[in-house]
Amino acid sequence: MEGSVHPKSIAILDFGGQYAHLIASRIRRFGYPSYIYPCDIDPTELRGVAGIILSGGPQSVYDKGSPQADPKIFDLGIPVLGLCYGHQWLAHALGGRVAAAKVKEYGSTLVKRAEKEKSKKENDLFEGFPEQWTVWMSHGDEVSELPPGFIRTASTKDCINAAMVNPERNIFGIQWHNEVTHTEHGMEILRRFAEFCKPAQWSIKSYADHVGAQIKEEVGGKKVFMLVSGGVDSTVAFTLLNKVLGADRVQGLLVDTGLMRKGEVKMIEEAFAKLKIKNLHIEDASEEFFANLKGVYGPEEKRKIIGNTFLEVQKRVFEEMRNSEFGIRNEVCLLGQGTIYPDTIETGGTKHADKIKTHHNRVEAIQKMIEQGLVIEPLKELYKDEVRILGEELGLPHALVWRHPFPGPGLGVRILCAKNSNELKIENGKLKIEFQHTVLPVQSVGVQGDGRTYRHAIVVFGKDPSKITTEHLELATQVPNSNREINRVLLCTSQSERTEFSVTPGAITRERADLLREADDIVLQEMRNAGLYEKIWQFPVVLLPLGKGKGQSIVLRPISSTDAMTANAFVLPPEVIQTITKKIMQLPGIDAVFYDLTNKPPATIEWE
Ligand code: XMP
Repeated sequence: MEGSVHPKSIAILDFGGQYAHLIASRIRRFGYPSYIYPCDIDPTELRGVAGIILSGGPQSVYDKGSPQADPKIFDLGIPVLGLCYGHQWLAHALGGRVAAAKVKEYGSTLVKRAEKEKSKKENDLFEGFPEQWTVWMSHGDEVSELPPGFIRTASTKDCINAAMVNPERNIFGIQWHNEVTHTEHGMEILRRFAEFCKPAQWSIKSYADHVGAQIKEEVGGKKVFMLVSGGVDSTVAFTLLNKVLGADRVQGLLVDTGLMRKGEVKMIEEAFAKLKIKNLHIEDASEEFFANLKGVYGPEEKRKIIGNTFLEVQKRVFEEMRNSEFGIRNEVCLLGQGTIYPDTIETGGTKHADKIKTHHNRVEAIQKMIEQGLVIEPLKELYKDEVRILGEELGLPHALVWRHPFPGPGLGVRILCAKNSNELKIENGKLKIEFQHTVLPVQSVGVQGDGRTYRHAIVVFGKDPSKITTEHLELATQVPNSNREINRVLLCTSQSERTEFSVTPGAITRERADLLREADDIVLQEMRNAGLYEKIWQFPVVLLPLGKGKGQSIVLRPISSTDAMTANAFVLPPEVIQTITKKIMQLPGIDAVFYDLTNKPPATIEWE
């Protein structure tokens, strides 16, 4: 009998950390279905899956409350691969021993195949590899004794049982991380395990067909109302619903908050026009947003007001539409959402993490509607890159679906506000920095340890203002580490002489939003011209209420990242920095341009 999860897929049991998502998305790239489950899932639900991968995790199997799976998973007769913590947990669960390693391994290590004890050919994941290769390790414990029935398949200098297999039961354990790019042959090992399990095939095309049938069945004779935010996910979801259900069964609403990027609404309108999708109502509510944000300065207060205004506008427009064009007065109407896979699962990762962040698509009211069958989420099984590929399949333009992530509150979190000058907590000149520098009288959000910080930024000045050096980058790590009052380090790219900047008080206004939109658009165009747009994860452009007199300034914040959890400042070539700075300095009222050099942590990607 089959269990309740996807048959013939590769199931990833999540022991915490960020590994499970990486493994699942890699397996899908090979063309096989893969889904993540909490590590303590009832094994009977897994009946019928093709294979099981136990992910890594940050804990020790002996830690109190450390994540545990049910050892009955081994009785299902399904191949199992344990990685890192998963390797240790399976050794422990099957009667081997795990102990604190004499030498903890972190980083690149050479691994060697166990010569005399080679596995049978059919379940040798390392067949044809060189005698030794480089892998990425991160562990304090190790498997000190193999469980009965297992043979060693690889060792490192400091870790004797780096890999093992039970050839009779098809249970594999590997201490190193195969899912990261630093491990040689790591992807090949994952691919071989997946192939060994003989899973079903998976592709976006087959998904689109399968989900099309599913949408029709779920919606039945009802209609779907959908909020299109302008972001990639809701745009693709709306397009898919239109294609599957037809225009008369779907109605979209896009609220223009006045805090979107230049030309964004038009870009979406044009893309839909090309696809002959006409059922998106665009409501210009910018006046309402600016009115509600008048005289508001605090970052959290701004967020709350933006969120609440959204809800008010949506409600009002929905009621108006209900009574007129959409004609759903007496019908049951489903709510469409662009939720994607990583937003949906409460896995071991979040369950064992200290803080649980509720995604806005999963707030209580929506959760209730989901239980009543009133929500349809056609992308809920897809990763972001898969959504983008699907978007292109559906005929949306490449440039639209591959846009950088953009925060829900839009430019609202990129327009810093000040009522008056913040009190400086440190005097200029007290910091021991060899560069000319000044402390800025504004604060921004950072993240250090587990908590968020709200601290000042410093600006350094150099002879060549468009050149970022290794010293600058080192400074960006060292200064926040050694000064509790500082969480960001900037380079001034518009001048080389040291200057003090003073506060130009201001809240969010249409004028300030328009100014930031222009600066943001300059950056976007230059990134495309330089062929750098798709190499950068995200490029916030921030407006600061700081200048030399009554002016303001702009911060450039290009970053590289894989998941937004951590990020590094992206270093642009000097000529690009120079061009962008020159163009931005020509905008009215801009006194300075800064470049944010800080990684996350200690800073965050956005300033608020
Ligand atoms: P931080 O600034 O925390 O951002 O390093 C991490 C990622 O989340 C995005 N972000 C938001 N997205 N609503 C959103 O929908 C928000 O309030 C919000 N704040 C930050 C940010 O752009 C980055 O990708």
